[in-house]
Amino acid sequence: MNNTNISIYLTEDEITERIKELGQQITKDYNNEPVLLVGILKGSVIFLSELAKRIDLPVTIDFMTVSSYGAQTASSGVINVKQDLSDSIEGKNVIIIEDIIDSGNTLNRLIQLLAVRNPKTLKLCTLLDKPSRRQVDIDVDYTGFIVPDKFIVGYGLDWDQKYRNLPYIGIVENL
Ligand code: IMP
Ligand code: MG
Repeated sequence: MNNTNISIYLTEDEITERIKELGQQITKDYNNEPVLLVGILKGSVIFLSELAKRIDLPVTIDFMTVSSYGAQTASSGVINVKQDLSDSIEGKNVIIIEDIIDSGNTLNRLIQLLAVRNPKTLKLCTLLDKPSRRQVDIDVDYTGFIVPDKFIVGYGLDWDQKYRNLPYIGIVENL
C-alpha cells in the first residue's frame, strides 16, 4: 500500500489517550447505568471497539448502516437506512457513535429517527468533528478531536473504502 500522500495528523498513542478519557467521562456520567453503543457503519467500528473497552459500565452494542444523499442533491438531509438496528432502543441509554461529523446532515436525521423510538436518553459521541463545515446545528455530547477542513483517513475513516485500517489519523495531501 502506498501511503506517501497521507500525512500523520494524530498518532495512535494520542488517539488511545483521548479514547481513555472519553471512556472515563462516559463511565462517570452514566453512574452505573447500562448503555447501548450504536455504531454507524462502517466508519465507527474501530473507534467503537476501542471506546467500548474503556467504559466501565454494562455495555451492549448494536450497529446501523445509513447513507445520506449528498448536499448537492435536492433531497439533501434525507437519509436512507440500509441496515437497521437489531433490537429495540426503547427505555435504553443510547449513545450514537460516529467517526466524524461534517455537514451534520446525516446525524441530524438519524437523531430524529432514533428519538421517536423512545430511548431513555440519547447522546452523541464522535471521534472527530469538522465544525467549519457544519450546515445544521448538532448537539455533540462527546468529541474526541476537532479537525481542520481537510480530507481525513484512518482509524475507520476511508477514502474510497480504503485506509480504514490505518492505526493513526491522517490527512490526504494534494487533494
Ligand atoms: P455529514 O456530517 O452528513 O456531512 O456526513 C458525515 C459522514 O461523511 C461521516 O460519517 C463520514 O462517513 C463522511 N466524511 C466526512 N468527512 C470525511 C473525511 O474527512 N474523511 C472521510 N469521511 C468523511
Ligand atoms: Mg460515517
